[in-house]
Amino acid sequence: MALKDQISIFFRWPVIKTLPHRIRRILFGDSGQRKLQMPVLETERLVLRQLHQDDLRDIIAWDEVTWAQNSDGAAQEFLDYCFREYRERGIGPWGIQLKETGAIIGNCGFPHIIFKTHCGEVNCYIASRHRGQGLAREALQALFRWGFRDIGLTRIQARCEPDNVSSQHLAEKAGMRFEGWIESAPLSRDPGLKQKHYAILAKDFNSAHNEIDACAPNMTARSDGNG
Ligand SMILES: CC(C)(COP(=O)(O)OP(=O)(O)OC[C@H]1O[C@@H](n2cnc3c(N)ncnc32)[C@H](O)[C@@H]1OP(=O)(O)O)[C@@H](O)C(=O)NCCC(=O)NCCS
Repeated sequence: MALKDQISIFFRWPVIKTLPHRIRRILFGDSGQRKLQMPVLETERLVLRQLHQDDLRDIIAWDEVTWAQNSDGAAQEFLDYCFREYRERGIGPWGIQLKETGAIIGNCGFPHIIFKTHCGEVNCYIASRHRGQGLAREALQALFRWGFRDIGLTRIQARCEPDNVSSQHLAEKAGMRFEGWIESAPLSRDPGLKQKHYAILAKDFNSAHNEIDACAPNMTARSDGNG
């Protein structure tokens, strides 16, 4: 099986991401890209932070099946992708660190942000043995808070594969609304692929969270994420 096929949907970083920023702009137009600062985000049980080379061992341990055939190489490839994103966009996948053990147990982030329309897209991965404890939901809430309140997004969306029940439940439980199906274009990488589309608007997130934040401000962002 080709290496790319072993990598789950949330590691299938598009080839276009590997193109330098300036070439992407020429080919695909300027979506108002700007370089962001990547803060450390903290929740009750998690620290979301940039990944470092030292995290390689934890990343290799994420998923025995996915990485099985070339675990060191695939994990390093993922880390290199993260480093490129940090360099070029300022932000890339946040490593999800469990406060209790210090282990990096997954990643999440904004693979796409379109500043012109104030829209972002999120994704999230939690290593299988840590699933089902509400950790992905906690991580997404921190991303929503940062996206809406710190960088001024007005809409955050997520795409889910039709057979990925967990991701659909996660989107719904995180407060996103199902908007419908989207089908990829004939000339895209996966022509005809249908995905479920979810989104949350800033006004809905804020009205749901203002009261909670006032009572329990246990999520924070620190600006020391770069470096
Ligand atoms: C999707 C994924 C991130 C969920 O991680 P997780 O930590 O298990 O998710 P959570 O525990 O926060 O679950 C969120 C909610 O969805 C529910 N849920 C999660 N998986 C579910 C499943 N398979 N069936 C039913 N409900 C499920 C949980 O019960 C929880 O609801 P609750 O808070 O009311 O109990 C994880 O399964 C994963 O990494 N999958 C592979 C990568 C992927 O598909 N990512 C897409 C996400 S954008």
